[in-house]
Amino acid sequence: MLVLGIESSCDETAASVVRDGSLTYSNVVASSLEFHQRYGGVIPEIASRMHLDTINYVVDSALSKAKVKLKDIRLIAVTEGPGLAGSLLVGLCFAKSMGLGLDIPCLGVNHLHAHLYSVFLNNKKNICFPFVGLVVSGGHTSLFYVKDFDQIELIGATLDDACGEAFDKVAKILGLGYPGGPIIERLSKKGKPRIKFGCSVTNKPLDFSFSGIKTAVMYYVQRHIARDAVEKADIAASFQETVIDTLIKKSLLACKIKKTKKLVIGGGVAVNNRLREKFSEAVRYSNLGVYFPDKKLCMDNAVMVAGLGYRLFRKGYKTNLDATPYPAY
Ligand code: KG4
Ligand code: ZN
Repeated sequence: MLVLGIESSCDETAASVVRDGSLTYSNVVASSLEFHQRYGGVIPEIASRMHLDTINYVVDSALSKAKVKLKDIRLIAVTEGPGLAGSLLVGLCFAKSMGLGLDIPCLGVNHLHAHLYSVFLNNKKNICFPFVGLVVSGGHTSLFYVKDFDQIELIGATLDDACGEAFDKVAKILGLGYPGGPIIERLSKKGKPRIKFGCSVTNKPLDFSFSGIKTAVMYYVQRHIARDAVEKADIAASFQETVIDTLIKKSLLACKIKKTKKLVIGGGVAVNNRLREKFSEAVRYSNLGVYFPDKKLCMDNAVMVAGLGYRLFRKGYKTNLDATPYPAY
């Protein structure tokens, strides 16, 4: 069964053709990143306008790269939320209209659940349910208990900034550009994590809070006016280590509470090599298994949307034409 996936929750317009939930025929991603860079973050209005400009071409290109015709598509899976309202609206309206025109079903998919689904794509290891899922992206930091593709319980979330957002903001404070994640990761390699930063304590142990560490970095930078490249690298490394340690501590606690031996990590921040290294190190002497998607499938894409859409469709899920985007989780 060929599924067309459409993703437009943030600044990437993406489309893909995937067969039977896992065989990727095409994966096209157009990003409006360069238009946001000068502002140091995603501007929702610009993102939604860029989706409007590009969605036709992106979907066309996904079909032609897959060498399939529209008439071969049996289902359209589209990101319904969470994300930016204006951005979601473009993808969702496009998918619903296309489904109506072609007389094929259109199914709304949760973006965060789709990030976790990425681990089932191109993965040689056999991952079975249940597992704890950590989604670390520019918009979310969430812990889930996953019993099946359609049984996903939210067990922890950020109370303020998302993890990727904290990377982006710390890079901005250090005057390093956007997006901050890859820049902080590169710079950290040259630094030593010698500065004591801390993540705020949360009332619920599985929740996260990253705004405190961002503010701590800001005050540190203000106090140490003579900051050179070496000190910036030390700040980046100290920040990165603290954030990763917090993610590890809470994820392992979630596994303990839920009595599961498997941990899946998805979302843009999961590209980070130091994060992958530290998580793998943390579980080395335990009987816990940690699983990451391919790096190219960690960032926003439509393959994960098509894949999860297929699984949900097989379970009998349907989306009505009156479906609306849900911006917040
Ligand atoms: O999942 P994603 O593509 O979009 C959202 O759904 O938000 O994630 C984008 C986020 C950005 O905040 C970016 O700075 C972060 O992922 N990111 C990284 C790295 N590469 C991207 N964070 C840390 N280390 C990286 N190497
Ligand atoms: Zn995402």
